[in-house]
Amino acid sequence: MKAIILSGGKGTRLRPLTYTGAKQLVPVANKPILWYGIESIVAAGITEIGIIISPETGEEVKAKTGNGERFGAKITYILQDKPAGLAHAVKVAQPFLQDSPFVMYLGDNLVQSDLGLFLEQFRAANLDALTLLCPVSNPSAFGVAKVDEQGRLLQLIEKPKNPPSNLALVGIYIFSNIIHSAIASIQPSARGELEITDAIQALIDQQKAVEARQIRGWWLDTGKKDDLLEANRVILDTCLQSEVLGEIDEKSQVIGRVQVGPGSKVINCTIRGPVTIGSNCHLENCFIGPYSSVADQVTLIDADLEHSVILQGAKVEGIHHRIVDSVIGQRAHLKEAPRRPKALRFMIGDDCQIELN
Ligand code: G1P
Repeated sequence: MKAIILSGGKGTRLRPLTYTGAKQLVPVANKPILWYGIESIVAAGITEIGIIISPETGEEVKAKTGNGERFGAKITYILQDKPAGLAHAVKVAQPFLQDSPFVMYLGDNLVQSDLGLFLEQFRAANLDALTLLCPVSNPSAFGVAKVDEQGRLLQLIEKPKNPPSNLALVGIYIFSNIIHSAIASIQPSARGELEITDAIQALIDQQKAVEARQIRGWWLDTGKKDDLLEANRVILDTCLQSEVLGEIDEKSQVIGRVQVGPGSKVINCTIRGPVTIGSNCHLENCFIGPYSSVADQVTLIDADLEHSVILQGAKVEGIHHRIVDSVIGQRAHLKEAPRRPKALRFMIGDDCQIELN
């Protein structure tokens, strides 16, 4: 069994963060989203992983993620030269996959379910495709499945205007090598992409062994700011362990689960977990409230924040309002001028310089 993780795409819904970086590298609880997928694949016993990259962000993904050693895996990078659809990505990965069955994992998805469980079911039932489903309130934004009373898969429709159910296709699929011939038989969709949904539908039409399972627990598609904040909240809530490697002075107060990375200094602050703070940060006279992630090399002075994600190298100084529900990009610099505005809510991209007057 092999795996491919799709890590191309333009990430338009996370702009401006993704103007300067891959959406799969945006951190959730200070770890790139993509790495959760790699870890979950390795935990399911798969170590041969192909990561599909794009010309725009591929080098950054490679540099950050490496050859897989740190995950106990062997990673091969596969370039998809244009965003021509998920099925097109499988086509491009065929020389890597050869005849092996494989997991296909969309690199911006996070799930709580154990992938190993679904692999066992795929093998035991000798399936050609196993798709994972999750009930959602906005099915039109996803691929949607129509299933019969026994839960058998009848039809898949990509982003339907009138969804036949509330069961969305989670971005994780398991295939036998038969998917390659199904992909060879389909045409690009109205949006000009080779859709994996159409290839699976072709398998259903040929009465191949295609089944669906509902996942348990949360599924987070981190495509947008609020999804990203929610993913950050859920991961901090469920996975964060307390660990203080940096220095916290005696005037500071730390409550609940809090992580502070090596080389970070916390001076006269109140930190109320769950909160993760990366390495080499400087925090002084701050309140850091629950569900906040502060990446490496961040400076926070006289700042007050909660339920927010601060990316690497950002600086926030002298903001005397609580910053909430905010994402602040890499190296962004936020400081308040003497006259103070009433309310602040941000989505600030990488490299921004913002001064409030
Ligand atoms: C893709 C799939 C869709 C699936 C979704 C899950 O959509 O085409 O069927 O429900 O991922 O994240 P995209 O996010 O590429 O629009």
